[in-house]
Amino acid sequence: MSNSFKRIDAHLSALGYCSRSEAAAFLKRHQVSADGIKVTDVKRKVSHASVLVDGKELDPETLTLLMNKPEGVICSHDDAGKLIYGLLPQRWQRRNPKLSTIGRLDSDTTGAILLTDDGALNHKLTSPKSKAPKVYEATLAEPLKGDEAEIFASGTLMLHGEKKALLPAKMEVLSEKKARLEICEGKYHQVKRMFAATGNKVVALHRVSFDGFGVDDLEPAQYKRIAFNI
Ligand code: URA
Repeated sequence: MSNSFKRIDAHLSALGYCSRSEAAAFLKRHQVSADGIKVTDVKRKVSHASVLVDGKELDPETLTLLMNKPEGVICSHDDAGKLIYGLLPQRWQRRNPKLSTIGRLDSDTTGAILLTDDGALNHKLTSPKSKAPKVYEATLAEPLKGDEAEIFASGTLMLHGEKKALLPAKMEVLSEKKARLEICEGKYHQVKRMFAATGNKVVALHRVSFDGFGVDDLEPAQYKRIAFNI
């Protein structure tokens, strides 16, 4: 958490409370104080922790969320369609730096997705070096054949268009057409392509957890703040 002093207009606008040009009006409309003293001047320099807006502490300077992504929303800032960011409060949608998903889930995939405005955290967890485990439950069109776990664990499975074999992954059979799969990389459509390589098709995909953060306690579209120390 930074102890630096920032202009109140810049800081309120970075946190999405208002635009910089709206800051003067915002200070008139709301009770904004720093160290207990009312702030009326947009140029006033403040430390984050000292500011109250209508008696409430400011939103945190960096925000990391865990969401149970519902079906049909897109993990993108600029695609046409229903974007995942639209599920967040307006103020959080206006933050700068922006909240962005850590990696992506397909529009039809549900489950655990992290969102953050911490660029270093995002970079670290999406880097090919990151071995953050991702656990999925896949529902399949056809019954499992029985050799999938061995194929996925082998470390030799080559997906079409890739130059390197996939890292070993753990698969557990849940039922005739359902499997739990833990992978530690995040190639494009990886889970669907893995099952396609065994002659099957994923018809529903849910990410149970990302790097140990599970969404069993969250309804679809619900999210919660999490602390993530890197
Ligand atoms: N693998 C997929 O095929 N889709 C996802 O959304 C995530 C992993």
